[in-house]
Amino acid sequence: MSATTRAFRIPVNPAGWDAERIRKDFPALHQEVHGKPLVYLDNAATSQKPQVVIDALTAYYTRDNANVHRGVHVLSERATDAYEGARERIRRHLNAASTREIVFVRQATEAINLVMASFGRTVVGAGDEIVISAIEHHANIVPWQMLCQEKGARLKVLPVDDRGDLIMDEYPRLLGPRTRLVAITQVSNALGTITPIKEIIEVAHRLNIPVLVDGAQAVPHQAVDVRELDCDFYVFSGHKAYGPTGIGVLYGKESWLERMPPYQGGGDMIKMVSFEKTIYNDLPYKFEAGTPHIAGAIGLATALDYLDGLGLDAVGAWEHELLVYGTELLQAVPGLRLIGTARRKAGVLSFVLDGVHAHDLGTILDQHGVAVRAGHHCAMPVMDRFGVPATVRASLGLYNTPGEVEALSSAVRTAQEIFA
Ligand code: ALA
Repeated sequence: MSATTRAFRIPVNPAGWDAERIRKDFPALHQEVHGKPLVYLDNAATSQKPQVVIDALTAYYTRDNANVHRGVHVLSERATDAYEGARERIRRHLNAASTREIVFVRQATEAINLVMASFGRTVVGAGDEIVISAIEHHANIVPWQMLCQEKGARLKVLPVDDRGDLIMDEYPRLLGPRTRLVAITQVSNALGTITPIKEIIEVAHRLNIPVLVDGAQAVPHQAVDVRELDCDFYVFSGHKAYGPTGIGVLYGKESWLERMPPYQGGGDMIKMVSFEKTIYNDLPYKFEAGTPHIAGAIGLATALDYLDGLGLDAVGAWEHELLVYGTELLQAVPGLRLIGTARRKAGVLSFVLDGVHAHDLGTILDQHGVAVRAGHHCAMPVMDRFGVPATVRASLGLYNTPGEVEALSSAVRTAQEIFA
């Protein structure tokens, strides 16, 4: 530990947590960049993959590769069993009532676009309203804007305070008889804010307004129970939760999905096609046109096995320790301003440094082996709200260590000296 960090409280391992052992599961972590050990702190953009996930992909392509729901041969049966087994695994992870409520998509972005195109185009009309928050990712802003433009509807935005907490006093007055949907994140990607999502859902439901929850930044860090939340839609991406890219999940209450028209037409989403008419398939296949990302679904199920094996409570506790430590270290850097100091936060440290542009800082950190994201984080309205064009964002994962948080803070101090 460097002299500058000696006064700080070093994280305490939750019972049984052994970050060094866990790191051995992730091959990509064990490399040097620019001659320095890799310090991977860009987990909110995408997480590294444990060997078991890589092995699951290899095993599928090595032994079982075939199309699903179509073939009469053994490989197709194996592929179908594995794919549908993955769906059941995801149902269990979210505690959904039925696999009919689990739709595989490419990522959270596609899930939101599906709800916009299918639910939105059916339910939203001229003069209607959709409520989002000021801390949404572009994926939970732009689709709704597109819908509002198309239908003559209005987007209403729940504001955020200077810490990054949603101003919940304002929420009830944003809801009314024209509100057709509330679409809000569970954890902000740019600030790390954990939103009071249960309250957001309860208040909307009192007025019979359905709620979509963007769980892309929540699923890697905490257990999620869609029945306990009682959300109408829940979306997440596999790749942020230690699974493959190109696979994500839309959970929708069966009562909604049943009433919604298909999102895309094609193979697998039909029961019968003639030139006169098509009868659509049952849930969830009605929403899965074309050959799906079979390997991705299997890899995601394996990633959830891995996460549950570690225990999401322990993951969350460890990341919280690192967050507290990282916050203390960075707050002690003169001229550094943390953007996002919400009362409840997931492992995101977004910051700006006097006299150093975020992109320059990101490049210098990279030279020290420290991988972060620099920019607007696909959340330009958040940057505007806090009066900054961009931030540097260090985002924590279950394999990060106190030493890596120290490496971040020490590289930031070095960058400051270079620009002094
Ligand atoms: N949504 C991802 C991020 O926050 C890409 O970096």
